[in-house]
Amino acid sequence: MYTGQDEKRLYEQAKHLLKQDNGSAEDTVAQLKEVINYADWKYYVQNDPTLSDSEYDGLFKQLKNMEEQYPELVTADSPTQRVAKGLSERFPTVSHLVPMLSLDNTYNAEDLTDWDRRCRELAETDDIEYCVEPKYDGAGISLIYDDGALSRGATRGDGVMGEDVTINIRQIRAIPLSAALLKYGVKQIEIRGEIVIHKKVFEAFNKQRAAEGLSPLANPRNAASGTLRILDPAEVRKRGLNSILYHISAFTLVDSMARPNELATHYDALKWLYSLGFPTPAPDMKVFKRIDDVIKYCHEFEGRRDDLPFEVDGLVIKVNDFAMQERMGSTSHHPRWAVAYKFKARQATSKLVDVEFQVGRTGAITPVAKIEPVHIGGVTVTSVSLFNEDVIREKDLRIGDTVLVERAGDVIPYIVKPLAELRDGSEREIKFPTHCPACDSKLERQPEEAAWRCININCPVQLVEHIIHYVSKDALDIRGFGAANVQKFYDLGILKDVPGIYDLSADKLKGLEGFGEKSITNLLQAVEQSKKQPLNRVIFGLGIRFVGETTAKTLANAVSDIREFYTWDVDRLSTLEDIGPKVATSVVDFFAREENKAMITKLDQAGVNLRNEHKGITAADGELAGKTFLFTGTLGHFKRSDAEKMVEDKGGSILGGVSAKLNYLVVGEDAGSKLEKAKKLATVNILTEQEFLKLIEGQQP
Ligand code: IVH
Repeated sequence: MYTGQDEKRLYEQAKHLLKQDNGSAEDTVAQLKEVINYADWKYYVQNDPTLSDSEYDGLFKQLKNMEEQYPELVTADSPTQRVAKGLSERFPTVSHLVPMLSLDNTYNAEDLTDWDRRCRELAETDDIEYCVEPKYDGAGISLIYDDGALSRGATRGDGVMGEDVTINIRQIRAIPLSAALLKYGVKQIEIRGEIVIHKKVFEAFNKQRAAEGLSPLANPRNAASGTLRILDPAEVRKRGLNSILYHISAFTLVDSMARPNELATHYDALKWLYSLGFPTPAPDMKVFKRIDDVIKYCHEFEGRRDDLPFEVDGLVIKVNDFAMQERMGSTSHHPRWAVAYKFKARQATSKLVDVEFQVGRTGAITPVAKIEPVHIGGVTVTSVSLFNEDVIREKDLRIGDTVLVERAGDVIPYIVKPLAELRDGSEREIKFPTHCPACDSKLERQPEEAAWRCININCPVQLVEHIIHYVSKDALDIRGFGAANVQKFYDLGILKDVPGIYDLSADKLKGLEGFGEKSITNLLQAVEQSKKQPLNRVIFGLGIRFVGETTAKTLANAVSDIREFYTWDVDRLSTLEDIGPKVATSVVDFFAREENKAMITKLDQAGVNLRNEHKGITAADGELAGKTFLFTGTLGHFKRSDAEKMVEDKGGSILGGVSAKLNYLVVGEDAGSKLEKAKKLATVNILTEQEFLKLIEGQQP
């Protein structure tokens, strides 16, 4: 799809669009669409982003602005049209053009050799080419493109009927909304594939959920299939799903044109789709003539399964030639021309011996299953989180149960289910405690929450967890501290709370086991360094409920001193991006508590940075809120992107062209048609760069 030359051109085009004046609106919109599609492809299909997030957002915003000004230029396949507002109804049931079959499984060399023999009998030849590709562990989907445009996306369902989830499929930026299929005479095509989630994206997503007090999703597969069926497309978009398409199940050609040459073998067909921008396994496909080579490759590939960005549970071996595939046919369950080679299972059974209840930083009580040690995928598992009481009740887990445990890749292990059929009556109910295991305070549970909590602010475990969080890498990043030392200092009585970190001294630490002169100096130095950390890290480190790293950044950006939050109410906080009433309430509660204010005062006295010199005023309350700007000509004083950022930081927005909606046109040297056009509009204020700077500084230009 993109040659090296295309890539160079599109990269330049992106940079140009970010900086410069552009030609006609039509041209600019076309160019913006092209580079955004290219950026999506680089990010999701190639896994090799070229633009920074803010550059991408800048281009996207430009396109949106342009389309607002010139609604006639909006097309169904514009990247902005992926974004849907509002909630979907329930998804209608639809039938697949061709039933979605499963695959037969093989587990070892012998199974594969048998399958190869059967293939050669069925195909009546020894000359078979096999195409081998990863078996992606996600949610199966089926896409239909009519006249080159994505017209339907459906879940697998029972294989015959699935759910029409087109609106959610459109949120997945790896999936093209349109492609040059008509150019090849393809009128309609049904393509099968998998919706997957990048392991890293999944991890970040669960981290965010944990910060919000929600239980993590069990594994990337569940995350992908669950996300496909949620009714809020905006949420689907946020989750950053990806897709791999690996099978053409049906197609019709325009006016009975000849089948395109590219469609003679599976390998060529997927390469061809890849060249049209579809996310196929093309880069990871291999063709072999001999089953022994296939087997060798399978073993070798299994060894590096954890290096792949997605969860892969095996390989799929397909007879490459389409005509041969047709001759071999299918059973009602699976094609005879394809087979899955399954990697070693990452599930095992074990016995649930006990459940421990751990107190977290926020007081949430987490049940943790203690199981008989079991080896899964190279590690021994003895503890498995059960997240909350609901999980225990939903799965009907009991002490003494034989349980199925899964550990997929780097994902934390979890209990899939108890094997109820193996119960002998000696199993015992898991009793959830009514009082905190650490301080014996009565536990509470809010109606909308899954967790039971200890709300005693002096609960010793919570205090320790608080300090551990404050010093952690993503918060104040105080090297050399670590959980074990925090616990040790706490137990010894030399560290009681977060501000106490700054009272540690060489005297207090001297003589402690494992603390020589050097490690004391290093630790105290790291403590000293942490005073200079930016405000967002401090806010994150305070451990306010529901405030993860991203929210902490948003909060830090909204003030020039953390103490400004003492007077903010829920409504004001809710004007900040991505902060809803739940988070806002939690923030207000936090800053309303005297003990938290006292802690902040102590941090201030210790010299910890509580200020944000680069406060970015948010759109809702910025001095330039609602004002629109456009820059034209060559700017001498600053880079265009910096100037645009100044406007946006103060709540203003950038338009793509001169129109009645424009408030300020800032002109540099050699300003051209935009200046001329603006002069004709009484509503536009024309500013020099100096005048613009005055405006930004809050003076009358
Ligand atoms: S081919 C008729 N290729 O695995 C063609 N399937 O366990 C059948 N899967 O239902 C599918 N990666 O959801 C094929 N590279 C791949 C695959 C793949 C994952 C899934 C698919 C299928 C299931 C069977």
